[in-house]
Amino acid sequence: MERIIAPSVLSLDYSKMTEQIEQLNQSKAKWLHFDVMDGHFVPNITFGPDILKGFRKASPLFMDVHLMISDPEYYAPIFVKAGADMITFHVESFDNDTDKCLAFMQKMQDLHVQVGFTLRPATPIEPFEALLEQADMVLVMSVNPGFGGQSFMDDQLDKVRWLYKKREEKQLNYRIEIDGGINHETYKKACDAGCDTLVAGSYVFKNDIVSTIEGLLK
Ligand code: DX5
Ligand code: ZN
Repeated sequence: MERIIAPSVLSLDYSKMTEQIEQLNQSKAKWLHFDVMDGHFVPNITFGPDILKGFRKASPLFMDVHLMISDPEYYAPIFVKAGADMITFHVESFDNDTDKCLAFMQKMQDLHVQVGFTLRPATPIEPFEALLEQADMVLVMSVNPGFGGQSFMDDQLDKVRWLYKKREEKQLNYRIEIDGGINHETYKKACDAGCDTLVAGSYVFKNDIVSTIEGLLK
């Protein structure tokens, strides 16, 4: 599967927003990763739908929206309207209940948006096998959700390997995305384990945006 880089705009320098979005548009990134946090599901607050609308106007890139919120059911359609191309939700927002997750995934498909699911590092992946068939993407969190700039958790690569194996076995085509602590060293481990979609926040924005993104494609 083609490798896609999804810079996380959580780490963008908001005093240089226009300039940095322009650099992202010129770069080899195909997606923008948009971390939505509600101060309830995670102890941090980020952006709402109006900010996504602004990004949508300023960039032609695919908007990869990661909802770290307690009520995705209510808010996801609002983010879809604001320009999301992919909605990724946490299974924990649905009490780890696979039926509730599947019903939500169906709702997203009815809204003609792609849908992914994700889980906290402490949540095991195996109980969610039933979601794989309906998923356009599975996101493996390699840090605890909430903040950029944390260290990569190697033990989460087991989930990546499991997802890769299941994709082969079941002949499915969901993307396998990884999020948290990606840099010039960790991205290789992630790709070797089977990831095809890399989120990178602080690593991209603390360095030269265009060449750092290019480096993650090598
Ligand atoms: C963490 C977010 C990540 C974050 C990654 O809750 O989901 O997308 O921006 O940041 P880095 O790449 O700095 O670890
Ligand atoms: Zn994220």
